[in-house]
Amino acid sequence: MSVQQAVDALREVGRTARVYCCMPDVEGITPLALLDPERTRVVETDEPFTRREGIFRLNEIGLSPLDHDCLYGDGVFEGILIYHGQVFTLREHMERLAQSLERTRIELPVSLPELTWRVMETIHAVGLEPNANAYIRLVVSRGIGDLGINPAKCIGATIYCIVSSIKLYPREAYERGIKLGLTKTIRRPDQSTIDPTVKSLNYLNNVMALMEGTAGTDLMESLMLNRQGFVAEATVDNIFVINRADGWESDASRVRIHTPSGAYCLNGITRATIMELAEAMGYTVVEDPHLMPIEMVGPDREVFMTGTGAGVMPITHVHGVAVGEGKPGPITRTLVDAYRERMANPEHGLAANADREATMRYMGA
Ligand SMILES: Cc1ncc(COP(=O)(O)O)c(C=O)c1O
Repeated sequence: MSVQQAVDALREVGRTARVYCCMPDVEGITPLALLDPERTRVVETDEPFTRREGIFRLNEIGLSPLDHDCLYGDGVFEGILIYHGQVFTLREHMERLAQSLERTRIELPVSLPELTWRVMETIHAVGLEPNANAYIRLVVSRGIGDLGINPAKCIGATIYCIVSSIKLYPREAYERGIKLGLTKTIRRPDQSTIDPTVKSLNYLNNVMALMEGTAGTDLMESLMLNRQGFVAEATVDNIFVINRADGWESDASRVRIHTPSGAYCLNGITRATIMELAEAMGYTVVEDPHLMPIEMVGPDREVFMTGTGAGVMPITHVHGVAVGEGKPGPITRTLVDAYRERMANPEHGLAANADREATMRYMGA
């Protein structure tokens, strides 16, 4: 991507996106826009200070430089897709956010259903076309606090939620598949560094891994290994390897699908959906802690990656070596279709125009 393309993309986001922001009101610290009574409201919480919230254009509000998200990456997030006017697997994302918050001991000042309604209000503020696709970035940070990493300095979480446009992979990519790089030096840490089930704001390792694995190429993703050299995941996607044994065409039990152990990859929501769909098709799905990169290539193999943005993306080559015949395999294609069908099913999400009552019902409140 050229700098000009990056500028154009940013301009488009600036034109259309909206951001919800919610933080404590502290004189001299809280961005002034959040103090405007015309644009914001007070949030009722148990906290010993006033908390305010509002929805803005991106240039109207900013995070405080003293937010520990900016200073130390101390926060958690979710990336959620609005697909054809439906917020796909919203409940699952909110539940994973709650899990990340619990594990990082960041307290959410409002209930999960209330936060979900704030997300929906932000979507409404964007004014999407009925069948639009869009992207939601929901972040909860440790919040504002004086310099120093100690969380005790932070008085209460900052919440922000950006609803923006999304550039999905073009349809041809799913028909042709994409090639994956291989990151050899930088490894995917396990629980001893950052618990992989925490979707934290610490992505520098993944950023560096992507740069290493795609350097000098136009590849979009790269495979990461864990400390022992076993396959972990791609930099923002989970990985699956299909093994087809003789007779697989007529007997689903001849197909085994391996995905790396959850001990060193994100508990991806797309990953969970695909595991469920593959098992429903009669395939055996195995969480494999010892998957080697060499097992991803060669005959009778298929590889695909999964993620909120990518969906189910066939992988044709890993580090320049062909997977199977170097084109998307038949089982992967079936899973791509099954996943599309799942995304179109209103039972697996919430309509982007849902009102408060429908949102609360959806969240079981
Ligand atoms: C490191 C990593 N792995 C996997 C995924 C895919 O997870 P999901 O399917 O929940 O989007 C992501 C998504 O952001 C990610 O950041």
